[in-house]
Amino acid sequence: MFDLTKVKIHTMCVSDLDEIKEILAQDFDNFWNYEIFKQELVNNNSSYLVVRYNGEIVCYGGIKIILDIADVMNIVTRKDKRNMGFGKFILNELINIAKEENCTSITLEVNENNQLAIHLYEHFGFEQVGLRKKYYDGVDSAILMTLNL
Ligand SMILES: CC(C)(COP(=O)(O)OP(=O)(O)OC[C@H]1O[C@@H](n2cnc3c(N)ncnc32)[C@H](O)[C@@H]1OP(=O)(O)O)[C@@H](O)C(=O)NCCC(=O)NCCS
Repeated sequence: MFDLTKVKIHTMCVSDLDEIKEILAQDFDNFWNYEIFKQELVNNNSSYLVVRYNGEIVCYGGIKIILDIADVMNIVTRKDKRNMGFGKFILNELINIAKEENCTSITLEVNENNQLAIHLYEHFGFEQVGLRKKYYDGVDSAILMTLNL
């Protein structure tokens, strides 16, 4: 677990994204194109957060809200800062945002082989509601999960 006094969480803006732009691929496992990510930040339906530890960005994540349903777009912790609680910390905040926006549920899709992410989502009560077979590059399936609020 991390030292709470060294943590800050705030809305992500383009300057935050630029701060980690060069290290997204190697240090964060980023699977999003930078330009697409940048557009997401200015989408009115989206809420992205960053977690800073000792001033450094260690985790980011976002949801997109359409009507009363929030969709988790991504959650990524910097590789050398995983298993310290940042994933749970940011997901808890994203769920709070969805509740404040009067969402009735949160949905997401996750690779069937991503056990760490599935474990994280199950921790908050997300349940599997569907499967998209061979969704990722025609190979891995996507598990659809929902949390009713
Ligand atoms: C999934 C991910 C976001 C989790 O972030 P994290 O900051 O490591 O998560 P936390 O430290 O809060 O851990 C959450 C849970 O996973 C467990 N966990 C995390 N890393 C683990 C590891 N290497 N081994 C065993 N358990 C682990 C924690 O113990 C915790 O479990 P608990 O609720 O039983 O205590 C992170 O692994 C990641 O960035 N993965 C790549 C991107 C990705 O796949 N994102 C999800 C799809 S969008």
